[in-house]
Amino acid sequence: MTAGATEADREARATPALDGLITDDQGPQVANADDPAGILRSGLLAGLDPGGLADRFGTPLYVYDLDLVDRQVDRLRAVLPEPVELAYALKANPSLAVVAHLGRRGLGADIASAGELATALRAGIAPGSIVFTGPGKGEAELALAVERGIRAVTVESPAELERLERIAAAAARRVPVLLRAAVSDPARHEVVRLIGDEGAGKFGMDRSDLRHAARRAARSEHLELLGLHAFGASNVREADVLAEHVAATVALAVEVTREAGLPLRLVDAGGGLGIPYRADEAPLDLAALGARLTAQADRWRREPATRPMRLLLEPGRFLVGPAGAYLARVVDRKTVDGQAVAILDGGIHHLLRPALVGQEQRIHVFTLTPGGGGPLPAGEAAGSVTIAGPLCSGLDVLSRGAVTAHPAVGDLVAVLDAGAYGFTEAMPFFLSHPIPAEVVVVGGRAELVRPRLEPETWLGWQRDPGL
Ligand SMILES: Cc1ncc(COP(=O)(O)O)c(C=O)c1O
Repeated sequence: MTAGATEADREARATPALDGLITDDQGPQVANADDPAGILRSGLLAGLDPGGLADRFGTPLYVYDLDLVDRQVDRLRAVLPEPVELAYALKANPSLAVVAHLGRRGLGADIASAGELATALRAGIAPGSIVFTGPGKGEAELALAVERGIRAVTVESPAELERLERIAAAAARRVPVLLRAAVSDPARHEVVRLIGDEGAGKFGMDRSDLRHAARRAARSEHLELLGLHAFGASNVREADVLAEHVAATVALAVEVTREAGLPLRLVDAGGGLGIPYRADEAPLDLAALGARLTAQADRWRREPATRPMRLLLEPGRFLVGPAGAYLARVVDRKTVDGQAVAILDGGIHHLLRPALVGQEQRIHVFTLTPGGGGPLPAGEAAGSVTIAGPLCSGLDVLSRGAVTAHPAVGDLVAVLDAGAYGFTEAMPFFLSHPIPAEVVVVGGRAELVRPRLEPETWLGWQRDPGL
């Protein structure tokens, strides 16, 4: 199946998004209900008073509940059979505190740049638990990966294999590699479904190049071929689709390594475990996924070719998405042609995903002001209020009809499920608003993990040569 554009790739699509990409296919968005196992529980955010968080750290603000991250780790691990290991995909949320927390839980890391490698290492993740995947790795990045002795470099093209071999030879090292298989099933991909692009071949190698690359690696003194990598699809909530992707990747890996005359030691089936973003979306059936993978693992144990193999999964969104919220304050309130509108001090410059993929996320209004939070006054459009940010772009709208609680100026609004592809996939410099702080909450205690930045900070980095 699969692969193509990743959630992170949508960053590259930000420009067309700003030109009017929003689709009308938003579906019914229901404002979030309290969920005892979610970030919004008992009227609080991550177990804390949102007003207190806003006063202490300012708004807009990113809040990550690490207890919920733990819960996702535990739920996933509980269903996975023994040969499966987890490497957290840093691209979902590279906040040092989040990465370090997952490292302490024993997860490895999937990185896509030297910056993410530095983050994983500073987070305390051992090089031997880090895999490096992604197109366009630079020479210096490859050299660093070789020097640090990471678990595997996933090679995306024949030319990259040559570069890596040269770098490993110069360093007198033998570097473990996975070869990335290009896979395509556009219908499976979130972006493809919504926007219609699967990356046009930028990920991995076709079958013929895979086979050549495997033979070349088998002959090389400086390359140690472990197996294959294939990223399926992003945000998949169908257990069968995920399990089929694993089965297809393992089958291909067996074929390619057998032809090259090498044992198969590692298959990396990527991430892609999905989460619901809408109240009417069903969550991924973890029990079903576990049952499918357990049945496969039984077969791998029976076959000599797959018996020694480990399977790596690189989830990002599933682990951290539901654990994050973006908290912003209502700064203006009006009614335009009967439509109620609330303007926030934050918007898509900090949480681009809704505009990028054309899908709103659940929003909860915290009423702090007398008169806020009630139903809209009679005469205002369909009982809903538009929730929009402060950018001078029509795309900076976080909700177009789902929110029926009436926020007043001073109230707080939380966009839920913002822990993955939130802060990291933003465009924080657009319009020079402050860049939000990031805060983690553990056991009801909030800690600042990245400070809020005021525009003066990056103004101070600049100079006018006065030419
Ligand atoms: C190679 C690779 N691995 C893992 C992931 C993480 O995917 P997800 O956050 O959907 O689990 C991505 C996402 O783009 C990816 O490209």
